[in-house]
Amino acid sequence: MPGENAAFYVGRVPIHGRMILAPMDGFGDSPFRLICRKFGSAMSYIPFISARAILQDSKRLRNELHFDPGERPIALQLYDDDPVRLRKAALRLLSLKPDIIDVNMGCSNRRVSGHGAGAGLLRDTRKIAALIEDLSASLPVPVTVKIRLGWNDLNRNYLEVAKIVEENNGAMLAVHGRTRQQAYKGKADWDAIAEIKQAVSIPVIGNGDVGSPEDVRCFFAHTACDGVMIGRAAIGNPWIFQERHDQKVSLSELSAVIYAHYEGMRIKYGERLGLLRFRKHLCSYLAHAPRVDKLRYALLTADDHKTFLKLLARAGFSRPSEPLLLFGSQQPSQAY
Ligand SMILES: Cc1cc2nc3c(=O)[nH]c(=O)nc-3n(C[C@H](O)[C@H](O)[C@H](O)COP(=O)(O)O)c2cc1C
Repeated sequence: MPGENAAFYVGRVPIHGRMILAPMDGFGDSPFRLICRKFGSAMSYIPFISARAILQDSKRLRNELHFDPGERPIALQLYDDDPVRLRKAALRLLSLKPDIIDVNMGCSNRRVSGHGAGAGLLRDTRKIAALIEDLSASLPVPVTVKIRLGWNDLNRNYLEVAKIVEENNGAMLAVHGRTRQQAYKGKADWDAIAEIKQAVSIPVIGNGDVGSPEDVRCFFAHTACDGVMIGRAAIGNPWIFQERHDQKVSLSELSAVIYAHYEGMRIKYGERLGLLRFRKHLCSYLAHAPRVDKLRYALLTADDHKTFLKLLARAGFSRPSEPLLLFGSQQPSQAY
């Protein structure tokens, strides 16, 4: 039975686990999502994409929107301040067969929130009600929302927003425990996340400053949330989804992940761009391999495949005889 032993449901979608990789624009590429999913992240998010850009269509976007079947359940995250554009874009994306459509109400970037999208929506609760009701009624898949605690310290309207999302048939709420004004400063407020969990009956996924297996346990004890979302601490450290300490990861395990991730990036983006985009992940992987110090700079600036492979080998990362992962199709879809 597909739903047997589910930790919780998003609408009718069973989620088999309580730890989830956070959407991270620029890092949450499909190969990384797949690795985290295989290591225990219970579902995947494609990081936020503007509804306007979906409606304009672009080849680059199709590649970003492509996912491996092994990543499912998959949420496609959209942002916009216009409910009609959001609906049109979401309807267009249905051809990709997402399991969930998520609306971003958390992005603090001025270019997004300053125009009323992302966390900017938190200032217009009537619009939130209208757009969630409209999306839920128009789409055959569950509609979820990722929020912050409010616009600023004076407007921490998270309880009102959470109830509005629930009343308008939102199927799940993910909460980053900071306001838009805080961006990433200060500590995430787990008390506020616990209050939200008490106030609504849809699943609540809490997020912010969960960086170790101990944090995961503390977080659940503190908030009683249905799930926890992990962002920055997962970069270079997919082992967190196995509730393992990164210091305990062996060189061969690290090598297997590095080669698998790099290979996935090459397939997805092509040889040169794949390497360039992989380098920022590598920077975090290398934090677990202090002995590569002398080769670090060369590895992080290598810009051709052969040189990069030679440097990896010299740094002690040997290619695993059995590849870690069997990627499915990594080719961009032709249309959505
Ligand atoms: C580089 C980066 C990109 C992000 N992109 C997104 C995004 O596309 N959508 C979103 O909802 N949140 C995004 N976030 C926010 C994270 O999902 C998460 O809420 C935040 O990092 C706090 O969690 P953490 O303390 O576990 O990192 C991003 C965060 C980072 C660091």
